[in-house]
Amino acid sequence: MPDVTLLNISRSIEVPDGQTILSAALDAGIDYPHGCKSGRCGNCKSRLASGEVELPDHSRFALPPDERDGGLILACRAVPKGPVSVFWLEEENEAAIYPHRDMEAEVTGAALLTHDILRLRLRADGAALRFAPGQYATLALPGVPARDYSMANLPSADELEFHIRRVPNGRTSTAIHERLRVGDRLHVSGPRGSAHLRTGHTGPVLAVAGGSGLAPILSILESAVAQGMRQPLRVYVGGRDEPDLYGLERLAELAARHGDMTVTPVLSSPTAPTARRTGFVHAAVRADLANLDGWKCYTAGPPVMTDALTEVVLAKGLKRDDLHADVFFTPETVIDTGGITATG
Ligand SMILES: Cc1cc2nc3c(=O)[nH]c(=O)nc-3n(C[C@H](O)[C@H](O)[C@H](O)COP(=O)(O)OP(=O)(O)OC[C@H]3O[C@@H](n4cnc5c(N)ncnc54)[C@H](O)[C@@H]3O)c2cc1C
Ligand code: FES
Repeated sequence: MPDVTLLNISRSIEVPDGQTILSAALDAGIDYPHGCKSGRCGNCKSRLASGEVELPDHSRFALPPDERDGGLILACRAVPKGPVSVFWLEEENEAAIYPHRDMEAEVTGAALLTHDILRLRLRADGAALRFAPGQYATLALPGVPARDYSMANLPSADELEFHIRRVPNGRTSTAIHERLRVGDRLHVSGPRGSAHLRTGHTGPVLAVAGGSGLAPILSILESAVAQGMRQPLRVYVGGRDEPDLYGLERLAELAARHGDMTVTPVLSSPTAPTARRTGFVHAAVRADLANLDGWKCYTAGPPVMTDALTEVVLAKGLKRDDLHADVFFTPETVIDTGGITATG
């Protein structure tokens, strides 16, 4: 088992063969900065100070070739080939102040928001879970793999709220929809993730949600409004058809309170005539917004949406560090070792 030294915290961990640096660090309870866990967002970008890693597929937005040649790696993709030492890139990381906890929780509500998205409410034993808006927790119930779900509530709320889309043939999302009832108990660990609200930012904000990706976006927007962030908020919500949209009343109420917040629902495949915008949500952003230099963009949803949006917003001048993305899918457990080798 290769040893990895995490220079930021002067600590060494063992990384089981074939496992990535990020997953070993998270398993060891370390708050390693990350977002998508799949080589798409760049939040886990780190400097390889010594040693060699395999670096399978990742998007060039997360790690462009010049940065890779310059000694940077993505911890969520990097599989050590021997002892290595790494330094994660420091950034504004308010989330690090909220310690990761393991806890039991009771289901206090389970109700459908759409035909395939369930709103699950949980009350954690002991103190309420503290987190930064946009972060997620890992839910574990017996017999199915633990999975990550983003909090949709204000961090000050007593109960946790999750929006869980039932993925066709998905093991955990199906079990949550079919099995969980009020009074049931499950294991929760968190908070995690660095795609959280940056409260120090004063420029405009673009927020783009696809499907249940609205969960962290709601938490971010409600917190921004509650904290008096007055800059323009431009919100896009994508769905296939009218029955896939939800949360619009909650967004309209926020927009009324804020004063400079617009909400644009976009349907990609409407089956009936509609007054809504149609097409892909990233195309609506491309058509509506000119220059995103100085903006922040928060986005969550399926990989196809976040990938397309990433391309659009970076082409419009958004700085890579101003993109905070959560990609809703199950990170691969089998690592393709046919990728690039990086050396430090
Ligand atoms: C940081 C993070 C936050 C997340 N937050 C949320 C959230 O708030 N709400 C939410 O609903 N989900 C969220 N997800 C996704 C969630 O963690 C699971 O990946 C999802 O519920 C599917 O798990 P499963 O066990 O049901 O499916 P699996 O058994 O893992 O997958 C079954 C099949 O479906 C495919 N698949 C997996 N995920 C998807 C998907 N999203 N769409 C289409 N096909 C898929 C798989 O490739 C596989 O073929 C988040 C994921 C991450 C990484
Ligand atoms: S690129 Fe590694 S967490 Fe997103």
